[in-house]
Amino acid sequence: CGIVGYIGYREAYPIILKGLQRLEYRGYDSAGIALYDGNNIKLSKTKGKVADLKSRLEKEISTDGSLGIGHTRWATHGVPNDVNSHPHYSNSGDLVIIHNGIIENYDSIKKELIKRGYTFKSDTDTEVLVNLIEEVKKKDDIKLGKAVQIALNEVVGAYAIAVFDRNKPDEIIVAKLGSPLAIGIGDNEFFIASDASPFIEYTNNAIYLEDEEMAIIRRNKDVKVRSIKSDALIEPYIQELKLNLEEIEKGGFDHFMLKEIFEQPRAIRDTFRGRLLTDEAIVKMSGVEDNMKKFLNADRIIVVACGTSWHAGLVSEYIFEDLARIPVEVEYASEFRYRNPVITEKDVVIAISQSGETADTLAAIKLAKSKGAFVFGVCNVVGSSIARETDAGAYTHAGPEIGVASTKAFTTQITVLTLMALRLARAKGTISSSDFRRYLIELELIPEKVKKALESDAYVKTIADIYKNAKNFLYLGRGFNFPVALEGALKLKEISYIHAEGYPAAEMKHGPIALIDEQMPVAVIATKKGHYEKVVSNIQEIKSRKGKIIGIVTEGDKTVKDLADHVIEVPETEEFLTPLLTTIPLQLLSYHIAVMLDKNVDQPRNLAKSVTVE
Ligand code: G6P
Repeated sequence: CGIVGYIGYREAYPIILKGLQRLEYRGYDSAGIALYDGNNIKLSKTKGKVADLKSRLEKEISTDGSLGIGHTRWATHGVPNDVNSHPHYSNSGDLVIIHNGIIENYDSIKKELIKRGYTFKSDTDTEVLVNLIEEVKKKDDIKLGKAVQIALNEVVGAYAIAVFDRNKPDEIIVAKLGSPLAIGIGDNEFFIASDASPFIEYTNNAIYLEDEEMAIIRRNKDVKVRSIKSDALIEPYIQELKLNLEEIEKGGFDHFMLKEIFEQPRAIRDTFRGRLLTDEAIVKMSGVEDNMKKFLNADRIIVVACGTSWHAGLVSEYIFEDLARIPVEVEYASEFRYRNPVITEKDVVIAISQSGETADTLAAIKLAKSKGAFVFGVCNVVGSSIARETDAGAYTHAGPEIGVASTKAFTTQITVLTLMALRLARAKGTISSSDFRRYLIELELIPEKVKKALESDAYVKTIADIYKNAKNFLYLGRGFNFPVALEGALKLKEISYIHAEGYPAAEMKHGPIALIDEQMPVAVIATKKGHYEKVVSNIQEIKSRKGKIIGIVTEGDKTVKDLADHVIEVPETEEFLTPLLTTIPLQLLSYHIAVMLDKNVDQPRNLAKSVTVE
């Protein structure tokens, strides 16, 4: 879900429309725009995509006006349909609002408002909020900004909102708690958006609101930022943005996902920059260096994350334990936060998040901090909520990831975590200096090897063609590559809607083997080293049940080649680095299957890029 707004001297409509398109990657199921045309508010909204909105809106309303707001919605309260889409009017039709997030106590507020004569068209919590603002404003006869502030002090939940009044069409009020909100500052014009991508071609200056801050944005005036709770005026910090437009466009690829898969050699190299100093045999990470004592004294590391980031965490469990001999637990943030977990000051918590906005991960961090743990963030989005909330951290530097299914964020997360494990292993003396040096040299070669692994693209496509109509897929791996199996299955589920399961190869005997027949493709990661013989036995078990075997193997492998229906080769490397290579063909496999099935690869149904609701 995303929000966009504009107030200034240009036509607002094309800016808002393009802005919504830029935010499409965040995932949504409906969209809408409200414009002020000089006399009144014009509003159009629909279930479906921004392209559907465009064709509908241009028939329904005039697109004039230099003030407007737009929204893409990912349903929380109320099914995705036209009525539940944003923007929402207040009862009088004076106010119009867009909202990301959830108002948790909307039901009791709604009941109260109904008693006072308010009626509701939609099932949304947002329509409750805009009417609460209207009620406060009318009752006390106060300005919109004040009314928004009072109303927000009554709600429990998370929000990024933008609201304006048709009787005062020179200002937009915005506020933030939990969901991101950026204000682009131009010359006599202002932009509002969930991230900077909608306005990057107009200005490099932006204010990122902090939680519990609101801003009053007036035409031709300075932006005023206030604390929602205390009412204090806050001096806004105007940040200079370094994003470039090219980075957020497709660059010749059919889909963002494919572009991002192919960017991985470059992305991993960017993750190394300034950190991996092979010639000097040094790994330098300031967030780790500055807190070395905490890491060295840690009883254990607890990783908290969701989705693909959780899989990167699982890979890191194997790496941290193997290299640095630190016990690691990997937790789903959503489970951890509600489990009353045992956390002490001697725990180091690593929070992994591409977006840096995932609500559950953020809450898990706050919980860990409240128990005195040291929290280290591994994020991709610079300046994101998680990056700010953690005590220290390391960015992945993958660049913007637009495809909802995470690819380069995953491999760069593993890269950062590997660098950390190596640095800590060296500090603890759990690996010898000669091994350390050898590992750095090998790590340095990974981007080239990823490039090599990408050469399997055309061949993987032929495999995709053979299995695209399968109803189920199984993914198996052991050790470092067990999480890769999970991630391979997740990728396929996410974008092709084919049911897939990832399993530790040896566990297959305890369940999934019952599913295997000639209809079942099984992707098995069987690189040399790392329990290779054991995996070969697992492959034999599949073969004797007539399953179709797609082996991910080390270059030159013969044994698996004789057994499997297809083998995809990846270059040889140290065992703990193999996930960075074996992941690649699995990403390509799910991509090609999804394209062949004509699915929306970059914006799969029901999924969101950053899940800012719990
Ligand atoms: C969503 C995305 C996934 C992502 C997960 C965690 O489900 O669709 O791709 O892995 O959230 O997101 P984060 O930004 O915290 O890594």
